[in-house]
Amino acid sequence: MKTARELDYSLHHLCIYDDKPRENMFPYLRWHHGITNFFSGGVFHVTGEGHSDYTFMGCGGRAYQIQIEAPPFQFEYERNWWADHGRGYNHICWLTSDARASMDHLLANGATEVMPFEEFPTYDGFVVHDPEGRWIEIMEYTDDNFRVQEFTHAPSGQCGLEMIGNAEICADVDAMSRWYQDVLDLRVLEEFHEDTDQVVVLSDKNYDPDGRRSLFMLQNARTDFEKQHLADHGPYISAIIYQAKNVERAFDDGVWAGMLELQKPTRDSLTGLVTAYLREPCGSNVIMLTEHYAPGASSALAA
Ligand SMILES: [Fe+2]
Repeated sequence: MKTARELDYSLHHLCIYDDKPRENMFPYLRWHHGITNFFSGGVFHVTGEGHSDYTFMGCGGRAYQIQIEAPPFQFEYERNWWADHGRGYNHICWLTSDARASMDHLLANGATEVMPFEEFPTYDGFVVHDPEGRWIEIMEYTDDNFRVQEFTHAPSGQCGLEMIGNAEICADVDAMSRWYQDVLDLRVLEEFHEDTDQVVVLSDKNYDPDGRRSLFMLQNARTDFEKQHLADHGPYISAIIYQAKNVERAFDDGVWAGMLELQKPTRDSLTGLVTAYLREPCGSNVIMLTEHYAPGASSALAA
């Protein structure tokens, strides 16, 4: 069996389930984003179960993207999730060099199957639950040409906005931090503790504080809206993480673009970062917006 290191994982995208993608992508586009690819019909998936409708968007960061996926969903397990949760952050996707070996490795290490391994025209892939029930998608590109486009690393707008990753609310932050390190080869960049609050900042092997700053934060529920969502849905993918050179300006731009104010920019006592929260339009999911934050890669490289 291949090791996590040998499976060559890199963070790729966050998927949002939403039934009005045309309307709900516009606040993103007004908030300095660009569409990296739009796939519909049989372009991305070809199965007997239905069609696909995916919009990939990025903003300022090189690698990390969001994907809006619209119904009718192709697979029964997707339709079941939609029936249970509605609009929401559905899964995080990692790229690998060997999807079949990755499935064996994940299932042998506490993950449970959602979608069995399948070979599509452009990639091989599957979906599993992590040990707390959040979805993980794994993709291995198999076509010589097909890739979801990446942006160059270039903070967007006058505020210098970058979409750089996602946060997850955990029932057991320490256990999940160990699991994502051991099984998906993430590396801890920095940890914050204060009383019962905890945030662990991780990234993948490609982390570069200047040119490829994809972040993956694991934390306990700290705000009232996080505690409520955890009570209603269990451990969940909680936020898209943005950074800006000018947080106040980025926050104002976001509200102008159609995001809703949840918390104005305030210094977070745990991380020390000026942090704001907005609700994004695809079903009132949460956006975390912080000041520029680029922890050193020394701990990641040493992992
Ligand atoms: Fe996906």
